[in-house]
Amino acid sequence: MTFFKFGMGTKVLMGENVCEQIMSEAEILGAKKALLVTDQGLEKAGIIERILKHIDENKLEVIIFNEVKPDPSVKTIDKGGALAREKGCDLIIAAGGGSPIDAGKGISVIANNSGSSADYEGLNQYKKPPLPLFAVPTTTGTGSEVTFGAVITNTDTNYKFILYGDDLAPKAAFLDPALVVGIPRSVLLPTAIDALTHAMESYISKNSTLQSRALALEAIRLIKKNLSPAIENSNNIEVMANMLYAANIAGIAFGTSRLGIIHAMALPLGAFFHVPHGIANTILLPHGLDYNFGYADKRYCDMARAMDEDPDSLSEQDGARKLIDAVKKLVRDIGAPTRLSDVGVKEDKINDMARDTMKSSHIPANPRPILEDEVAQIYRQAL
Ligand SMILES: [Fe+2]
Repeated sequence: MTFFKFGMGTKVLMGENVCEQIMSEAEILGAKKALLVTDQGLEKAGIIERILKHIDENKLEVIIFNEVKPDPSVKTIDKGGALAREKGCDLIIAAGGGSPIDAGKGISVIANNSGSSADYEGLNQYKKPPLPLFAVPTTTGTGSEVTFGAVITNTDTNYKFILYGDDLAPKAAFLDPALVVGIPRSVLLPTAIDALTHAMESYISKNSTLQSRALALEAIRLIKKNLSPAIENSNNIEVMANMLYAANIAGIAFGTSRLGIIHAMALPLGAFFHVPHGIANTILLPHGLDYNFGYADKRYCDMARAMDEDPDSLSEQDGARKLIDAVKKLVRDIGAPTRLSDVGVKEDKINDMARDTMKSSHIPANPRPILEDEVAQIYRQAL
């Protein structure tokens, strides 16, 4: 049997009003002062208030840093890190979608290390351990609440990079389905397809393990089963709990396995054209599956089964095709954009984006070897 390693660094707590547990988890760490990292939209929507009502400020002082924007930047993270240091925070609480949680990770590094987050691209590049981090996801997509990495954008160079570390995963994640109830379709769809892409790329990753594949496959099954009901009525708490859980276990899976060509190509789309991450994945998912066709057919058949298709009466290759067809149908049915030109991408940056794609740490995990020319070709096909 081939050697493999699977791990997760996060205690996951799930249930309605689970943020009640923040105090006891903070007490375990001995934390007295937290920087709450979020964005203004969540604050306006009253979500932060719903989290704060569970925090006893006599025991845990909270300072709010609400400046995170989509595709969190080096500048924002460095500013948040300096604030945490200046105020003497001993805990970071990140609440929101992927952007605030990733920003929280970067801030937890900068709070304890000198310099800028731009200096720490790659694995374990910082010297001192990051501040402990709690994560409260408010979308059903990111998985960042359990992963070891943060996606950060250097706006000076239009470059999105990953800062990751063995000790960078949140210490605890608080999954409250009541916080994702009623999220608008414009947030639900891209984040759900992001989670589906995490699960699929993780399942076929060269680094996947028995555990990560079990979690990834279950995530695919749950997303397929619950996405339509969630679109129909995002106020159904049971359905939204399933979506939140699916995104979480997809995150646990890819924390170990890494991802593949789709995520590697999605990052430059965000950096150059500010295409929201979930939309980039939604457009690229069918193209990425087409690209890897023939390199993981048995696993494609497993995923087709998880999506309620029946590949077993067919050859392995035809069964694998079923998966691609099912994904294309799903993306069509939900009315998501299917072309990069629909979301403002221009051809003149394709070569630059292909170059940056090749720097991604997801590239070695992809089942099919990837060449820069082929990446540029896929961007053109998707345009
Ligand atoms: Fe993603």
